[in-house]
Amino acid sequence: MVERQTVQNSGGASREAPETVRRMFEEIAGRYDLANRLLSGGMDHLWRRRAAELVAGWRPVRILDLATGSGDLALAVASACPEAGVVGADFCEAMLEHARVKGLRETVVADGCALPFAEASFDVVTVGFGLRNMESWDRALGEMRRVLRPGGRVLVLDFAMPPGALRWLYRPYLHHVLPRLAGWITGRPEAYRYLGESIEQFPSGARMQQLLEHTGYGEVGWEFLTGGVVGLYWGRKV
Ligand SMILES: C[S@@+](CC[C@H](N)C(=O)[O-])C[C@H]1O[C@@H](n2cnc3c(N)ncnc32)[C@H](O)[C@@H]1O
Repeated sequence: MVERQTVQNSGGASREAPETVRRMFEEIAGRYDLANRLLSGGMDHLWRRRAAELVAGWRPVRILDLATGSGDLALAVASACPEAGVVGADFCEAMLEHARVKGLRETVVADGCALPFAEASFDVVTVGFGLRNMESWDRALGEMRRVLRPGGRVLVLDFAMPPGALRWLYRPYLHHVLPRLAGWITGRPEAYRYLGESIEQFPSGARMQQLLEHTGYGEVGWEFLTGGVVGLYWGRKV
């Protein structure tokens, strides 16, 4: 069982310490994909496919998928952009091991808040269900901007709290049903209690637009998927 340690990020949100997050993913790595499929009812593939479609429209040559984990977003992007080179980076080696087995060729162990890449190395940086987990959203978005070429694009895919009445129906699922189901699947219910807490704190919609603009991105846009339980955001390095 992972002992929880929290830190306060620049947005005032209480966050799990990076080492707690890394160990949490280390413990669930073997069951992460199965849990995703079952808990999303298979929709997680559709969310990543939509993200990959957007990326393909930007015709990138070099792509970084940050917090790539077991590689599902990186592999979706690679299949939508067959001519591009895709690098998957993550600070949890156990998750990267699954990505490699599934066919992701270039993987790098790296912390999203201190990327080991030179400035202007990529045309696109994607991050799926990963930014939310990072110690500092500003710092991570700043690092993504630094490694993007001028005019390059960032894409953030992550959970959101749906609007209106749906939010009140979704909350019991997120905080009570999901940790129990995930506990059965992964043996680690605490990791999924953390998921609900982190989704509640993570900015979505106009707040995410502000965060992207504040960290140096222009032409910011977004769409909600599946009734607003997932947000897809993009911006351009200006
Ligand atoms: C929920 S998984 C998402 C994996 C994958 N992108 C997907 O779409 O399924 C989150 C990943 O973020 C990674 N992560 C969390 N904080 C990180 C950080 N500061 N630097 C690098 N990776 C991080 C975790 O190790 C984990 O693999």
